Amino acid sequence: MSEQTATERATMPAAYNPVLERRTVENANQNLLKYLRPGLSVLDVGCGSGAITRSIAEKVGPTGRILGIDPNDKLIEQARQNSGSLPGLDFRQGDIYTFDTDERFDLITIARTLQWLADPKAALINMKRFVKPGGYLSVLDFNHEKISWHPEPPEAMKTFYAAFLKWRQDAGFDNAIADHLADLMSTIGFTDIRVENQSELAQKTDPTFAVASRLWAEVAELRGLQLVNSGYISEELRVRAIADYDNWIQTVGESMTVYMLAVEAKQ
Ligand SMILES: C[S@@+](CC[C@H](N)C(=O)[O-])C[C@H]1O[C@@H](n2cnc3c(N)ncnc32)[C@H](O)[C@@H]1O
Repeated sequence: MSEQTATERATMPAAYNPVLERRTVENANQNLLKYLRPGLSVLDVGCGSGAITRSIAEKVGPTGRILGIDPNDKLIEQARQNSGSLPGLDFRQGDIYTFDTDERFDLITIARTLQWLADPKAALINMKRFVKPGGYLSVLDFNHEKISWHPEPPEAMKTFYAAFLKWRQDAGFDNAIADHLADLMSTIGFTDIRVENQSELAQKTDPTFAVASRLWAEVAELRGLQLVNSGYISEELRVRAIADYDNWIQTVGESMTVYMLAVEAKQ
């Protein structure tokens, strides 16, 4: 499929995105906590509406420097509005394939974004240029093929999920990117690479179970229309997947584990 298709499919829907906005370093990028200290310089690639970026800015403090980039101008606008005037924090519209700057950073983080790129290696090569000697590149991403639910979710949601993976794959995105990151990083010249399992388990006994496990209903709500419009599912299936899955969460749903790895390398 064309580069244009990949770009269209990678574009976050314009609607306010509650999934992005409830994320913080602590609840969604905790692999970064070990690096964050006052005065650090950080580049957040694919920052979305800047929720995690703001949380990073609070930790590196007024002597730190944080730049968030994202190609989506609406998300960058939201990020600027939501961040007020934290010192050292800036957002810039930018695509990681072509982004350039004279700045060099102690830490570059890219979370849940390489999964949306048809050429993750090119993106990694470009990012590597901006890491200071002795600095770190940190990638957090999914293997969507290794998700697990207990018990099995409703058929309509399983059908939606399979169509979602196919729709992604057809655009050139790697559904198993998390498990390919270490090799990719090695191929582009990193030698000091470390892999941490960052899978997220949501259980019925957690107060956050309903919100966390609803991720896939939200994907069907926010992204599902793109699948309907490109002929991967019917609107009826999309609506049924959301309703049946919401019912699963409220009744028999016990747990969901989203498989994620943080793969980090020292320059
Ligand atoms: C799922 S969101 C992740 C947002 C945030 N990092 C997080 O973990 O919540 C993926 C982001 O990648 C951005 N993105 C897509 N293509 C990109 C590219 N070529 N360069 C940089 N960011 C890109 C999207 O606009 C979107 O904001």
